[in-house]
Amino acid sequence: MGKKWLNIVYNEKNSQRLKKHYKDWAEEYDNDLNEWGYAYPKKIKKILKNHINLNKHSKILDAGCGTGYVGQALVDLKFKHIIGLDYSSDMLKVARSKNIYKKLLCESLTKRTSVESNQFDLIICTGVLTSGHVGPKAIKELIRLAKPRGYLILSISEKIFSKLGFEEELKKRTKQYRYINLSRPFIALPNHKSSATSRMHTLQKI
Ligand SMILES: C[S@@+](CC[C@H](N)C(=O)[O-])C[C@H]1O[C@@H](n2cnc3c(N)ncnc32)[C@H](O)[C@@H]1O
Repeated sequence: MGKKWLNIVYNEKNSQRLKKHYKDWAEEYDNDLNEWGYAYPKKIKKILKNHINLNKHSKILDAGCGTGYVGQALVDLKFKHIIGLDYSSDMLKVARSKNIYKKLLCESLTKRTSVESNQFDLIICTGVLTSGHVGPKAIKELIRLAKPRGYLILSISEKIFSKLGFEEELKKRTKQYRYINLSRPFIALPNHKSSATSRMHTLQKI
C-alpha cells in the first residue's frame, strides 16, 4: 500500500518537509512496517538479551521514537521506564495512544535537547541516523544524555555510514565510548525492495 513512503522520507533533504511527510504517514506507518517485516524490534531484543545487562526499572530513551514501533519491543521485555523523543508531533500522537512511554518529548535531535546530561541507562535510536533525517553530530548529543557506563544502540545504514560522516564522528569520539557489539549487516525491511542494509552499533559510554 504505502510503498512510496520509504523513498520519499529517505530522499527528502529538507527537515520541515520531512516532518510533513511523517505527518501524512503517521497513521499508516505501523501497518507499512508490519508489511515490510521491520527487523529492528527483533534485533534490539537480541542485543538486550545477549550483550547488555539492565533491569526492568532501567531508564531508557527512545531517540526518534516515531510511533513507538521499536519502543513496544522494550515493553515486551518488561522495561517500565521509557522516555520517547521525536520532532514529529504527529508520530508522537500515535506513540501516545500506546501507553509505552512515561514521557514524550517533542524535540529535534539536530540541536542540543532540553534533557539533562547523564540520564539514561540505555538509548536506542533506530531508523533516525540517516539521510534526510539526523546527521552524525547527534551522536555527541546521544552520548551526553547517556549515564557513564550507559549503553547506546544505534542503527546506521551501511550505504551512508562513511558517506554522511557517521564513521568519522564515531572515530572522533572513541575516548567517550567503547564498542560492545557491531552486528553483521542485515536488511532492515526484508519485504521492501528499496530497503537499506544496516548494522546495529552497540556502545557503552565511558
Ligand atoms: C523511520 S522513523 C523511525 C521511528 C522509530 N525509531 C522506529 O524505529 O520505528 C524516523 C523518525 O525520525 C524522526 N525524526 C526525523 N528527523 C528528526 C529530528 N531532527 N529530530 C527528532 N526526530 C526526527 C521522524 O519524525 C520519525 O519518527
